[in-house]
Formats: sequence, structure tokens, C-alpha cells
Amino acid sequence: MEKAIVMSGIRPTGFLHLGNYFGALRNYVKMQDTYTCYFMVADLHSLTTHPDTKELKHHVARVLAENIACGLDPDKAALYCQSHIRETAELYLYLNMLAYKGELEKTTTFKDKVRLQPDNVNAGLLTYPVLQAADIMLHRATLVPVGKDQEQHLEMARNFANRFNHRYGQVFPEPHAFNFGEELVKVPSLDGAGKMSKSENQYATIYLADDDDLIRKKIMKAKTDQGPTEPNSPMPDYIENLFLLMKLVSAPEVLQTFEAHYNSCTIRYGDMKKQLAEDMVRFVAPIREKAEAIRTDEKYLREVMEKGAEKAGKSAKETIEIVREAIGLKYY
Ligand code: TYM
Repeated sequence: MEKAIVMSGIRPTGFLHLGNYFGALRNYVKMQDTYTCYFMVADLHSLTTHPDTKELKHHVARVLAENIACGLDPDKAALYCQSHIRETAELYLYLNMLAYKGELEKTTTFKDKVRLQPDNVNAGLLTYPVLQAADIMLHRATLVPVGKDQEQHLEMARNFANRFNHRYGQVFPEPHAFNFGEELVKVPSLDGAGKMSKSENQYATIYLADDDDLIRKKIMKAKTDQGPTEPNSPMPDYIENLFLLMKLVSAPEVLQTFEAHYNSCTIRYGDMKKQLAEDMVRFVAPIREKAEAIRTDEKYLREVMEKGAEKAGKSAKETIEIVREAIGLKYY
């Protein structure tokens, strides 16, 4: 049987964090043995919000290194840079004719960005979901491992694929957001407001590059309260978030112990945060150390990018030929 095709990407707009790990990278690593995988650094997408490219090269190296440090094997999956695959721009152009201004303006991420950068509401920002659909469709992928925040972009990619097929004939399968039979993940920020993020909330986000003491400091500062006064009370958001993080990095027995303390109103949040901090340090430190060594090995990273671009380029070229033919752009 043909292996299912997997595609996903991460923007090089800052340091990777626990949200990127549990929303995306963890699944990349699990999927690389079973599926045909294409994972990229979305450098073109980053230009919609970060036009200054002075630090871009470093960020690209960091994202590649962090992907590999988390367990991604460039010999199994294609690990590449979006801008190295020129066919992306071509498919983006065709898909732009199938995307409507009204639906693009209604996209949540677009509305958020307009609020964040009112002086740079560029057309690339508006058509961001179209470029993302092009990335996915270029490999005719069906499974897209992403976090919850990308759900709407995936719905739009399905619409564009269906519209293309309807107009020009069946070329694209429907892509779906993927997380091993479970709900998509949203890793909350430590201050109980919103999610962990590369560029906002830096003190409430745990980065894969944070050193041990910084991790401890961030966790010990997380918001708590006096604790519940009634057994089995519902949890406030900020407490639920601490349990959620504990579920991600601590042993199941540890989680159960603190849940039992919570339900019997004997919980001491100081102890819980100390435990969580140590478990978090144990989780992050090996990734940080590995990434640090890879990040500065320019020769190795160049080989990774070249090998990735070769694999991704082959698949992209095959798709773009089919697309040109389907649209009717072949005149001889
Ligand atoms: P980006 O760079 O914002 O995030 C990369 C991945 O990390 C996930 N993620 C989270 N998951 C759970 N909790 C969080 N707090 C959290 N923060 C981030 C994101 O869902 C994502 O999976 N548009 C994409 C990049 C992209 C792409 C693609 C993705 C470009 N082309 C094609 C898939 C397929 C983005 O901005 O991701």
C-alpha cells in the first residue's frame, strides 16, 4: 500500500517553545517512520510579519537544529526550506485565483496580525493561508501535524483543494490537521492568558533554548492561588494549565499524586511547581544541548537543506506538471 503523505512547517520567527514541540514536533518524530514526510522551515511566511531579514539565517539554522534535536532524522523525512522550492510560488499564484478577499479577511490569524501590525497590512499577510495551502498541496499531502491554532488554515486548504478539483479536475486529496487520534493540542502560557508563543508572552513561554535556571524561574512565577476549599472543585484556568504542563512532562504517578492533593484540598502549589520545574528541566535540557551543537555546524546544516530540497523538489515538480496540465497551460 502507498504510504500516506505528511507535510508541515514552522516559521523561523524566534525561538521554538513547548507549544511547537507538543503541537507539532512530537508528531513529526512519531510520523517519520511510518509515512512519507515533508517538513519545512516556513521562511517565506516569516516575511509577512518580519520584513527585516538580518537575523533570518540564524533563525533558520536554529529551527533546523531544533527539529533535529527533537528527534527528526533528515534521512527519513525531507527537512527543507520553503524558499528553496520555487514551485511553491507558482502554486501560490494559481491558488490565489481561487481564494476570495472576503474569506481571507475573515481569517482569525489575519485579524490578529492586523491588530498587532496596523502599519504593515500587506497582501502577503492577507493571502498567508493560500501560501500555506500551496505548501501542503505541492506534495498532495493528506496529513498535516499542527497545533490547534492552525485548524482554520487547514479548513481553508481543504476548501482551496476542493475548489481546484471542481474547476480543473481531480488533482488534490483533502488535507487534514493531525494529532494521533486526539484533539489538536494547545499549550497554554504560564500566565493563564493565551498560548505559548515565539514572539509574545516571553516570560510565560518555555523555550527549548531556555537554561535550567530560567525554566525554574518561569515556572515558580506562574500564577496560583490559596488552593481549593471544597473537595473536587473545578480548576481555574491558570491551575488547569499547570496540570496540563505536568501531564506533558512529568510521570503519570506524579500527576496523579498532585491531582489527588488538589481534589482533597491538600495541594501545596509551591511543591507542585518545584516538581514541575525539575521535570521540565529534565525534558528541555537534552534538546537544548543537542540543538546548540547542531546550530553552529554550518556544513552539516547545508547538507541537510540540500538533501531536503532535493527530495521536496522532486515531489513539487511532479505536482506542478500535473497542475499546469489540469489548468490548461500546456500549449504544445
Ligand atoms: P508556527 O511557526 O506559528 O508554529 C509551528 C507549529 O507549532 C504549533 N504551535 C502550537 N501548538 C500547540 N500549542 C501552542 N501554544 C502552539 N504554538 C504553536 C503550530 O500549530 C504549528 O503546528 N502557518 C504555520 C507554518 C506553516 C505550515 C505550513 C504549517 C507554513 N506552511 C504548511 C503546516 C503546513 C505557522 O505559523 O506555524
